[in-house]
Amino acid sequence: MLKVGIVGCGNIFTMHATSCDHLENAQLVGVCDIKKDRADAAAKKYNVKAYYDYKELIDPEKIDVVHVCVPHYLHPIISKFALEHGVNVICEKPMAIEMKDALENVRIAEEKGLKYGIIFQCRYNDTSRMIKDALDSGKLGKVISARCTLTWCKPDSYYSLSDWKGTWDKEGGGVIIDQAIHSLDLANWFIGDEIEEVQAHLANRAHTIMEVDDTGEGYIRYKNGATLSFWAMNNYGCDDPIEIRLYCEKGKAVMSYDDARIEFNDGTVLSTSQQSDGIYYEGGKDYWGFRHIRQIEDYYKAVEEDREPFISGKEALKIQKLVCAIYESGKTGKTLKF
Ligand SMILES: NC(=O)c1ccc[n+]([C@@H]2O[C@H](COP(=O)([O-])OP(=O)(O)OC[C@H]3O[C@@H](n4cnc5c(N)ncnc54)[C@H](O)[C@@H]3O)[C@@H](O)[C@H]2O)c1
Repeated sequence: MLKVGIVGCGNIFTMHATSCDHLENAQLVGVCDIKKDRADAAAKKYNVKAYYDYKELIDPEKIDVVHVCVPHYLHPIISKFALEHGVNVICEKPMAIEMKDALENVRIAEEKGLKYGIIFQCRYNDTSRMIKDALDSGKLGKVISARCTLTWCKPDSYYSLSDWKGTWDKEGGGVIIDQAIHSLDLANWFIGDEIEEVQAHLANRAHTIMEVDDTGEGYIRYKNGATLSFWAMNNYGCDDPIEIRLYCEKGKAVMSYDDARIEFNDGTVLSTSQQSDGIYYEGGKDYWGFRHIRQIEDYYKAVEEDREPFISGKEALKIQKLVCAIYESGKTGKTLKF
């Protein structure tokens, strides 16, 4: 039985705690938040000990695994502390704001022989799996062009209610690093090749009380010739479905929120919709990609079996590199070549 601790008892906490609760090979033993009321409420609900300083919870005598569910700028700091003290880490996306911090933690995890996982739960959606399987089996051929769009609504109040969102130092960006990171990760994973060139434009068009991007647009070219175009904004009037479209050698694939459809050039069609896992996440929000439990299950098994988790820190460096490149290109106006 793995002993588990969670640092950060905010919005995403319930996805992690409920997942841990449902999995047989793990037991939540402690939760931590600097906001005492949040730590106390979470501890009471799960009947575990509350901590207010992560350094007291993250101790290999107390826990085998820590879930890092805090503001972005703290991800690499708390992950590094845990890895250096011999505790396995599963961290919410993004693994860091800066590439150098992400690389450092991948190195430490490897040196220490610890499992370092990063949450990108949308890779576990039934829709994503169907498309990835069709690509991996060769049935769709390789991706020639991909595009993804995100039009969501995060009004000024979304930022005014948070003490870290909307700031360069604590969130590290806006719509790209926080929301579009999932669809960019999926598209990048579907294409599955090395990035050659990144061009991006960023803007804050509609928000008055925050400083980061609410709009991002760009074009990525891969070494195998594939291209990815994206457009993301969180100043739209509602949360419309995220859409990813792939034009491939042997057909086209479309993913729109919870539905996916592949039309092969030979006329055959494959489609699927997201199925519920039947788990109720009390107090949870309806995140696109309700698949934390599938990723956390794989991660716990990876710790037990001493193998790499499906989305390891090393694997997550691929989307980290892309997100960092989008910000560098967007801020400097330069095309980045790799
Ligand atoms: N995978 C997803 O789809 C998804 C969805 C939502 C959020 N997230 C990620 O989860 C993370 C947390 O987001 P959230 O919406 O829960 O934020 P939040 O602000 O609701 O919660 C963060 C919590 O961390 C606590 N905290 C801050 N500093 C701390 C410290 N030093 N030690 C202990 N606790 C500390 C805060 O008090 C707060 O309760 C972010 O990285 C976010 O990107 C992921």
